[in-house]
Amino acid sequence: MVAVTGLVLLGFVIGHLLGNLQIFLGPDWINSYAEHLRDLGPLLWFVRAFLLVNVVAHIYYTIRLTIDNRRARPNAYAQKDYVKASFASRYMWLSGLVVLAFIIYHLAHFTLVVADPRLATLKLDALQRHDVYSMMVYGFRNVIVSAFYVLAMFLLMLHLTHGASSFFQSLGWNDKTMTPHLARWGRVFAWLIFIGYVSIPLAVLLGLVQPAQPL
Ligand code: HEM
Repeated sequence: MVAVTGLVLLGFVIGHLLGNLQIFLGPDWINSYAEHLRDLGPLLWFVRAFLLVNVVAHIYYTIRLTIDNRRARPNAYAQKDYVKASFASRYMWLSGLVVLAFIIYHLAHFTLVVADPRLATLKLDALQRHDVYSMMVYGFRNVIVSAFYVLAMFLLMLHLTHGASSFFQSLGWNDKTMTPHLARWGRVFAWLIFIGYVSIPLAVLLGLVQPAQPL
């Protein structure tokens, strides 16, 4: 269940990144993309509910797994040396918790637009669409906010370094020859996701992307 729900969330992370990268194509692209998403109406709410169920289930089954693991060995090891478990795999709970805190902040920032009230004062664009483009640019001009995003993306990357390859193992889709390759491709994939996401706040801070309206 952790692997299956993780896979669904991974699908979202890829899709969301591709959607967000449209900021580099200009306001028209990303604003109409956001408008199309909103036009989905009830379907959008269904997808949101489905994602939420996946997040809750992912956390619930992780906790259950951890409890089962502890019960399987009630006495602590006298000496603990890690042979195979990577840093990322041992701190999945920590990277997961920070990503969760990030998602809560992120929803308040860009979906509910309450974390930075200035963003709620932005006008609609010329085609009466929500100006998501300028909202992102003004949002990331705040260095502290951008730094938090970069930190959260880094931890998401760590989480995916392990998660993006270990679901193959959990679902039994690996063997001796595939496993080392999967671990490597999992890392490459996680870094690509990281680079893709952080390129947005960095481009804003470097002044490469300018807002489409004054604030
Ligand atoms: C630079 C990084 C990111 C940017 C620029 C970004 C941008 C946005 C924007 C603009 C929205 C609001 C869309 C709208 O209401 O029109 C949004 C919503 C959302 N983002 Fe992100 N995002 C980023 C990273 C992430 C990451 C890493 C995750 C998850 C791990 C995530 C999860 C979400 C979720 C769950 C929503 C709510 C979707 C909905 O309302 O249906 N975002 N994001």
